Amino acid sequence: MAASVEKTLAEQGVKSAEQVAALFGEVRSQAETDLRGVSTEKQFEEFRNQWLGRKAGALTKITDNWLKQAPGELKKSVGQEFNKFKTALEAVIEERRAAIEFGEEAAADAKDRVDLSLPGVVRSVGSRHLIRQVFQEIEDIFFSIGFSVVEGPEIETPYYNFEALNIPEFHPVRDDMDTFYMELPKGAPGQLLLRTHTSPMQIRTMEKHKPPVRVIVPGRVYRRDNPDATHSFAFHQVEGLAVDTDITFCDFTGTIEYFVKQFFGANVKTRFRPSYFPFTEPSVEFDASCVFCGGSGTTASGTCGKCKGAGWIELFGAGMVDPAVYGFVGYDPKRVSGFAFGIGIDRLAMLKYGIDDLQVFFQNDVRFLKQFP
Ligand code: PHE
Repeated sequence: MAASVEKTLAEQGVKSAEQVAALFGEVRSQAETDLRGVSTEKQFEEFRNQWLGRKAGALTKITDNWLKQAPGELKKSVGQEFNKFKTALEAVIEERRAAIEFGEEAAADAKDRVDLSLPGVVRSVGSRHLIRQVFQEIEDIFFSIGFSVVEGPEIETPYYNFEALNIPEFHPVRDDMDTFYMELPKGAPGQLLLRTHTSPMQIRTMEKHKPPVRVIVPGRVYRRDNPDATHSFAFHQVEGLAVDTDITFCDFTGTIEYFVKQFFGANVKTRFRPSYFPFTEPSVEFDASCVFCGGSGTTASGTCGKCKGAGWIELFGAGMVDPAVYGFVGYDPKRVSGFAFGIGIDRLAMLKYGIDDLQVFFQNDVRFLKQFP
């Protein structure tokens, strides 16, 4: 603020209208200089107080010291100059205020702005595990011939895992399925176990649905086994079950053959050998011609290491549903017939994708997983 506003005109020796105009001109240029140094809201507030403040602002002082105390002959010109000055001051202040406000807004905007043209952060989305992919391949094949997918619990009762599948207590096959039993609190009503196969879902499905039934059951199963290249205490199966009033052994083998050709390729042959499962009768074991040597048993370097010269590779167990099983689910064994199969997925995936160690499925090493995007 200009020091001259503290004194009266007489004190400053101002006597003519020209001098008055010059004096106002000085104050005005002082105000403009001050205003140029103002760039933030806070400085702006200070400036306003200094110049426009009611009590001690320069305008008030000019009014008190110059205008009110001007001698009669100067009153008019002081009044005119004062009004001009006031209008000019208000105009430049307003201009500056708008500039500051806009500037601060623009600065805040610039800070917040998202630059949509910048490249995004690329996060690796991963891929489905090979076992999951094989599940899906199998599901698609069976979808195409009218099967649907159901899933069931991994914790089962001995009834569904064994009894209802015609495996009574002390049946020797229970020994082949080294079973994990749950440790339950004392007084628990019955035992629980980790299912050793997906076959319990045969029972659960037939309990719920009247024939015809055509389902596959993908899932994880458990058996007490020491892990090595071909064993694991957790592995995967796809159960299959088809029951209707007119299903024959031909439907059965035709369905399996169709599946094997879809999965391994049209040139692969299938065969079946007699086998035994308590819940199928007759029971069979399906083989496919060796996918590595084309069934010849030999490769360029001699005997085929995969089928050990046999030309055949064991695939999975299956059979016609044992009539005894129908008794557990309220089906009439005289009216219905059907077949079931239980495909070991890990083994099938190893055969199809040339993997020689079962453990890689469970280690989740990305260097392995990445090979199956
Ligand atoms: N559940 C049998 C197993 O895990 C496989 C199987 C399923 C056999 C269905 C016949 C019919 O070994």
